[in-house]
Amino acid sequence: MDTETFTQARAAFDRHVAKFRDDAGTLPFALEAKFKHTGEVCEITEKIVAGEARFSPRDTLVFRLCSLFHDLSRFDQFAQFKTFLDRHSFDHGDRSAALIDELGLVPELPAEDRACIIDAVRVHNKFAIPADFPAAHLDAARMVRDADKLAILRLIIRFFTGDYSDPTIKLELPDTPGWTPSILETAMRGECVVYTDMKNVNDFKLGLFAWSSDINYPASAALALDEDLFGRIRATLPESDKIDVLLNSARIRLEALRGANANPSCRQNP
Ligand SMILES: [Fe+2]
Repeated sequence: MDTETFTQARAAFDRHVAKFRDDAGTLPFALEAKFKHTGEVCEITEKIVAGEARFSPRDTLVFRLCSLFHDLSRFDQFAQFKTFLDRHSFDHGDRSAALIDELGLVPELPAEDRACIIDAVRVHNKFAIPADFPAAHLDAARMVRDADKLAILRLIIRFFTGDYSDPTIKLELPDTPGWTPSILETAMRGECVVYTDMKNVNDFKLGLFAWSSDINYPASAALALDEDLFGRIRATLPESDKIDVLLNSARIRLEALRGANANPSCRQNP
């Protein structure tokens, strides 16, 4: 039943995406990239869930649907505004959540499950999950945020190591030497770095290390460590003991979270 529900949801997602294909069935480059990103977030979600024993088949289905729908509005966003920048268009988390209802997706799901998916999709792109977020929907929100972050880190690594060229990734920051010391300190504390404080591409890369403090599941931490996501970002930054310490702090955080799997009472964000 769960497999059938996901297969039908996937077909509905594909029908929505097909509206943006040309007569030959081709998506514009930017939208093909988003289409692939959704597939990658779904794949990562399945990996995380496989590493977390406590989730039921119902939880797993809800998490997979959150990942499938999390960027649903990206297609309309680019078609309408020719940008993926929310500040120049709309908040794509809010809009994706609204589209789940507007497109009548997964109508067969119990109302509580649909509400959970809509809430998780809404907050997937926010700086933090709001304090008044429904407790029953937290697992789903944390899951899609983890999977999305890991997929974005993979994409950024591909972008900075020259494996992947994407004209839609526009940092609007100069690629100059050095970095801003206060940005490194903020990232070291695991606090979110504000984009408008960044002065160059190195600042952007340093800000990514703060994401290590906003990873929720031990299996997510394990995946980040196994793929050495932060080490590979560090490799694109200048030689510096301070940056090595920053990398080490991110690894220590992730190692602690990964270790929580062996002792669930130590789990972060209970
Ligand atoms: Fe997103």
